[in-house]
Amino acid sequence: MFENYFSKRIKATPSSFIREILKVTQKPEIISFAGGLPNPISFPQEELKISMNRIADEFGAKIYQYSTTLGLDSLREYIVERYKKIWNMDITIDNVIITTGSQQALDLIGKVFINEGDKVMVESPSYLGLLQAFHLYDANFIQTKLNDDGLDIEELKKTIKNHKPKLAYLIPNFQNPTGLTYTLENRKKVFEVIKDENMILIQDDPYGELRFTDDDRIPYIGLNQTEKNIYLGSFSKIVTPGMRLGYVIANKEIIKMLETAKQASDLHSNIFGQYLISDYLYNNDLDKHIEKIKKLYKTQANAMVEAMKKYFPKNIKFTVPKGGMFTWVTLEEGKSSAKLFDKAIRKNVAFVPGNPFYVDTAKDVNTLRLNYTNANEKTITEGIKRLSEALLEI
Ligand SMILES: Cc1ncc(COP(=O)(O)O)c(C=O)c1O
Repeated sequence: MFENYFSKRIKATPSSFIREILKVTQKPEIISFAGGLPNPISFPQEELKISMNRIADEFGAKIYQYSTTLGLDSLREYIVERYKKIWNMDITIDNVIITTGSQQALDLIGKVFINEGDKVMVESPSYLGLLQAFHLYDANFIQTKLNDDGLDIEELKKTIKNHKPKLAYLIPNFQNPTGLTYTLENRKKVFEVIKDENMILIQDDPYGELRFTDDDRIPYIGLNQTEKNIYLGSFSKIVTPGMRLGYVIANKEIIKMLETAKQASDLHSNIFGQYLISDYLYNNDLDKHIEKIKKLYKTQANAMVEAMKKYFPKNIKFTVPKGGMFTWVTLEEGKSSAKLFDKAIRKNVAFVPGNPFYVDTAKDVNTLRLNYTNANEKTITEGIKRLSEALLEI
């Protein structure tokens, strides 16, 4: 009925496949490995309740009032101190803007940088929320293959030479959807290839803190410099996603533009949530809290890996996650994960077929994403058992 009213832009943008799938997976009998939800038992509910009372007493009306676009100074200060401590980054609060989740950061970056047809390099596969966000700005995506150790260097060289992308969007730690992490060697090679290019590198890192192994954190590509690097962070996976709080760290000139774009979007992110998270962070030990989440997710990841080893046919490959929230399964060549989805739903188990993580979403693929953070070990084992039965039917 409104076909002639809607913009070309929105008509050309597919609705989020995952949101569509989530509608199917709401039924209680379904075991869902589809969403990307943190486990609710990881939310520090008691501590947040204390913080809620404290900010109400301490700040009164301010927590309900309009506020500044860049975000609450104390929260920006916390981020600066943390990145200085961990990464030795040379930044001040002028390098930080608070956003409504890192999803908004992606939208604002699109608004600030992308003219119609501008080339953006992304991993193959990539985060579908980014593909959707940049699609709205008519980005021209160039996908570069992801291997077990990070970006395919030969493909990267070709992409750079042939396309000269304006932006690159990478998720170097426990990537969504594959769960893969770039090795230090791969990061160094990527940097060697791109360092003299006129390209801005966006590193999106909502999962980096969720490392299950005792290995040290791996520095970002470009050794944590802010010159042509944009870093995205989020409180969604380490505190709570419902507050919708994330942030961008970048050169001041870029932050200024993001501020203008954000004014037009929402004036500022929810100030109550900013006071709340800020109070929580200053009065609790975030690292100790993250340790608890990691322990929980490691157990869940192990349960999924063990079940896949036990029940899946041997020719099916999957990533063994060392952190984050996902594993990525590759079926035999020529098999369709969309077809598997139909069979699996009938057995009351759900996942995300690989299609929406590629630029060409219409193409049938043999890959799929499984999330393990939102089911207990017993349910995970049962779900994988059901999935392995579905696998026999395709
Ligand atoms: C790679 C990546 N970026 C960004 C987001 C958005 O996170 P949020 O807006 O909750 O910070 C997600 C969420 O799953 C993600 O996986």
